[in-house]
Amino acid sequence: MTSPGASSFVALLLDSGNLILTESPNDGSASESLWQSFDHPIDTWLPGGKIKLDKKTKQPQYLTSWKNKENPATGLFSLELDPKGTTSYLILWNKSEEYWRSGPWDGHIFSLVPEMRLNYIYNFSFVSNENESYFTYSMYNSSIIPRFVMDVSGQIKQLSWLENALQWNLFWSQPRQQCEVYAFCGAFERCTENSMPYCSCLTGFEPKSLPDWNLEDHSSGCERKKTLQCENSNPSKEDKDRFLAIPNMALPKHAESVGVGNAGECESTCLRNCSCTAYAYVSNVCSIWIGTLLNLRQLSSDDSSGQTLYLKLAASEFHDDENSNLNIIRVVSGVVVGILILLALLLLFLISRRRRMVGAGKPVEGSLVAFGYRDLHNSTRNFSEKLGGGGFGSVFKGTLGDSSLVAVKKLESISQGEKQFRTEVSTIGTVQHVNLVRLRGFCSEGTRRLLVYDYMPNGSLDFHLFQNKNYKVLDWKMRYQIALGTARGLAYLHEKCRDCIVHCDIKPENILLDADYCPKVADFGLAKLVGRDFSRVLTTMRGTRGYLAPEWIAGVAITAKADVYSYGMMLFKCLLTARRV
Ligand SMILES: *[C@@H]1O[C@H](CO)[C@@H](O)[C@H](O)[C@H]1NC(C)=O
Repeated sequence: MTSPGASSFVALLLDSGNLILTESPNDGSASESLWQSFDHPIDTWLPGGKIKLDKKTKQPQYLTSWKNKENPATGLFSLELDPKGTTSYLILWNKSEEYWRSGPWDGHIFSLVPEMRLNYIYNFSFVSNENESYFTYSMYNSSIIPRFVMDVSGQIKQLSWLENALQWNLFWSQPRQQCEVYAFCGAFERCTENSMPYCSCLTGFEPKSLPDWNLEDHSSGCERKKTLQCENSNPSKEDKDRFLAIPNMALPKHAESVGVGNAGECESTCLRNCSCTAYAYVSNVCSIWIGTLLNLRQLSSDDSSGQTLYLKLAASEFHDDENSNLNIIRVVSGVVVGILILLALLLLFLISRRRRMVGAGKPVEGSLVAFGYRDLHNSTRNFSEKLGGGGFGSVFKGTLGDSSLVAVKKLESISQGEKQFRTEVSTIGTVQHVNLVRLRGFCSEGTRRLLVYDYMPNGSLDFHLFQNKNYKVLDWKMRYQIALGTARGLAYLHEKCRDCIVHCDIKPENILLDADYCPKVADFGLAKLVGRDFSRVLTTMRGTRGYLAPEWIAGVAITAKADVYSYGMMLFKCLLTARRV
């Protein structure tokens, strides 16, 4: 009980998500809050909240990730307003390495986030007074429940709540690629985009903390399995440390450059210094790394910016060192070599059998054929004849062993594991209709994912509509048949399949025409395979913005209606271009 005239304190959790502590006088009048959670953001920024810069102390406020998805302790990634006083937001690793910035605010958008031009749901505004500057945001449509987070992945994410599905829908995220996040993979780990999991220990290293590793928390990194010879107290001449070449790497920051004349001297410089862990010799410059190796990115073999990193390892990691027990080794290796030769013969036999079967097809997963990468490489003559580049990857013409023509799609940015990929692909394979392009098979080897479709000799509808010099001009009857067939294909996807498939990308480029100009919808089911959020849709639109349903921009659930919208826009194009017939 309080005495008359005195006040009590109340804590209120407001609908905005703000928890406030106020003094509530007994006369019932409102009073200022003494403390509010919006002033102390952790990893979530809600409408009405702010991430500010204190102009007097030059101290920014941070939106900081959790340590991992189960532990809300302070993580390594944080978002802050540029302490230099620009209107740019920065994302930093360990409050030291900047790996993303929004660019300055021009009153409507952040300059490096052009997709904001198409944003009609978040209303950002910039406030600056003598004490502080900050951004705050509200929602144009108050029925949308949003959440802006600094995620444990090191990416900032805008999510909106889907009431029907009871889950968060990813609307936008940056940086786009996981491996662009500085040191997302920890010490002595490498980050490989398009692989699952993204992080792996370098050869000769193992996770320092398995519990962390299993939570996908890479902050503790990996450690050496075998200590270096130079760290031993009584080093012997025999087992000198050696270097392992790791090709196609984006070299880590913080190298020391050494003035030496050739690669051999570069290597011996690193060998002489026990705390040197790696070196690289690129265009006559020798770089060495002292201590921990951080932020290593594995690039794909066709990325020409990759360099070779030479990693220092104990000689025993190389498995070919000579020992005093030479005889035992000779006997053992004799047996091993014998077994290997047998295995190799068996493998050759199997491969030659498989070779004969390719083309004729080796059906697995229903009617789909699992192709080997080499076979597709050969049948497309090293991916030489490009048919087009869709939103999900480039498409190449190929010829199978039975001389039937196929279109081979090399998928980009697949983050799914082998098993999940096969499951999704076999689902797509069961979806068959005269107005859908038939999936004949797939290839899944390592990080490579390819899909093999029937080849469509008359190309895609957009060529006939917009670039009709070399293409047959479509007459009214044909246009009508194409519109009807496309609608039949879509209706089948939406209503007749076991699981309703929303195409997400209906446009003339995705309507293919067979030899008889029968339309076939292409690329269905891929949205689920590669995942589609707003920023991916935006980056893959390539000037086809006109077909994009408003749901994409409004951040609400995408249903079959989005396809109907896009289909309608496509009909308009068919009508408008028909004036030239
Ligand atoms: C982060 O920086 C602090 C000093 O600023 C340092 O002590 C700490 O080791 C760093 N964390 C990691 C994981 O490197």
